[in-house]
Amino acid sequence: MVDTLVCSETELADGKMRLIQAGQAEIAVIRKDGRYYAYENLCPHQGGPACEGVLMPAVRDVIGAGGIYRGQQFDEAEMHIVCPWHGYEFRLSDGRHAVASGLGLRRFEAFVREGSVYVRA
Ligand code: FES
Repeated sequence: MVDTLVCSETELADGKMRLIQAGQAEIAVIRKDGRYYAYENLCPHQGGPACEGVLMPAVRDVIGAGGIYRGQQFDEAEMHIVCPWHGYEFRLSDGRHAVASGLGLRRFEAFVREGSVYVRA
């Protein structure tokens, strides 16, 4: 395992992403709510640049009394990375597909040391 410098903490704003090359892998490092996440920028569906899509809250159906559909709303507690090629959604928290948990992004450790962000790969 090698620690690769991504950038200083001040260079990565909340909700933003940085791409780095670490060996053979292109890795996206995402900062959200003070935490850092790192995933290979490679969608398990058809190889698209999964992490270059939007980062958005999960969308939940709202079901009212009697099972009546009342529309949809965002769930800010669960952020998703949406692959730009065909819209597969992966949970930011662990990289797993939002529905098919057997599918997911390859995860790496991201951490801060002395004011700089690193990825261990
Ligand atoms: S390649 Fe990512 S959704 Fe198809």
